[in-house]
Amino acid sequence: KKGQALCQQIQRLLGEDAPLPAPHNISILSTNMKHFLMWSPVIGQGETVRYSVEFQGEYEREYANESWIPICECSLITVTVCNITEDISATVAYNLRVRADNGAQRSEWGTLKGFFIRNTTSLTPPLMKVIADGYHLLVELEDMGPAFQFLVFYWEKSQESRKMVKEVSSAIHLATMEAAAEYCVKAQTYVETINRSSSFSQTQCVRAQGSGSMWLITVLMSCVGFAAAALTLPFLVWKTRKIFQYSCCPIAVLPDALVTFSLCFQGAGYSQNHGAGKKSRHIDRKTCFSHCNEE
Ligand SMILES: *[C@@H]1O[C@H](CO)[C@@H](O)[C@H](O)[C@H]1NC(C)=O
Ligand SMILES: *[C@@H]1O[C@H](CO)[C@@H](O)[C@H](O)[C@H]1NC(C)=O
Ligand SMILES: *[C@@H]1O[C@H](CO)[C@@H](O)[C@H](O)[C@H]1NC(C)=O
Ligand SMILES: *[C@@H]1O[C@H](CO)[C@@H](O)[C@H](O)[C@H]1NC(C)=O
Ligand SMILES: *[C@@H]1O[C@H](CO)[C@@H](O)[C@H](O)[C@H]1NC(C)=O
Repeated sequence: KKGQALCQQIQRLLGEDAPLPAPHNISILSTNMKHFLMWSPVIGQGETVRYSVEFQGEYEREYANESWIPICECSLITVTVCNITEDISATVAYNLRVRADNGAQRSEWGTLKGFFIRNTTSLTPPLMKVIADGYHLLVELEDMGPAFQFLVFYWEKSQESRKMVKEVSSAIHLATMEAAAEYCVKAQTYVETINRSSSFSQTQCVRAQGSGSMWLITVLMSCVGFAAAALTLPFLVWKTRKIFQYSCCPIAVLPDALVTFSLCFQGAGYSQNHGAGKKSRHIDRKTCFSHCNEE
């Protein structure tokens, strides 16, 4: 062993290629059933160092002659992290190893110390949003994938009893609330495949609307008011216009039109001799109006 180290030092001094060291400090980062293998970068000379990862499950170890399976997505990669989530498909002990490659040289395998079992994943409390929609108590939970269930606990703040619902969906109607009562909710995730739960999210409380609450009345009143205004306003405009039209004619027009106006007022629609039978006019209401509008 000592001789080998000395040999390597001499090789390095002579400027020959030192063999690539195996990746070291290999660890697993596993959160919410997403698993990543990580290692410290290997410093090589010249070419970019690339890494390849392999795993060995219980099956390979016991029934497949201790064979290793390459992870295709992590074959000759330049980053020092590998997403092994897809490959860790059972709750059994896995071996993992990684080696470095710089084109000319290949390192020994660096192996994870001990086994990785996915039941050691760290589970975080779910992100949760509690909503009071009138009298409905709703909760929305972050979608964490099909492996995750949610255990939701809710209770009326002034009471002792707690109710629990087990749900797989991420939007849940919990209860119909008592008027003006305050309700509290907390949730945790549960992963059946590993029989483990996260800790609880922070409790969130909401208050149901009051039965005769002022805001509802206010909203209703303003709705009625608005509808009334919407209906009345065009009528008033129309009425005003009409009055204006009848009163505009005599003031704005010449004596000749004055005749027209008087005819209009009488309801018109008949002929009348004007000034010793010189002119005969037939004037109806319509022409009267257009007269006024033209002025
Ligand atoms: C080992 O890896 C961890 C992260 O995975 C890093 O924080 C630490 O610095 C590394 N240690 C060495 C000696 O490279
Ligand atoms: C098991 O692996 C060894 C070497 O690791 C090999 O010699 C042997 O032939 C393999 N056996 C089978 C059945 O694949
Ligand atoms: C890791 O792989 C899993 C499964 O393919 C995927 O759902 C997840 O988004 C990946 N994570 C990252 C950070 O690439
Ligand atoms: C994980 O599973 C192994 C056996 O499969 C068991 O010994 C260990 O206690 C479990 N760990 C946790 C955190 O559940
Ligand atoms: C899940 O774990 C609990 C203890 O945390 C245990 O009582 C129960 O039997 C386990 N269920 C299964 C199906 O392993």
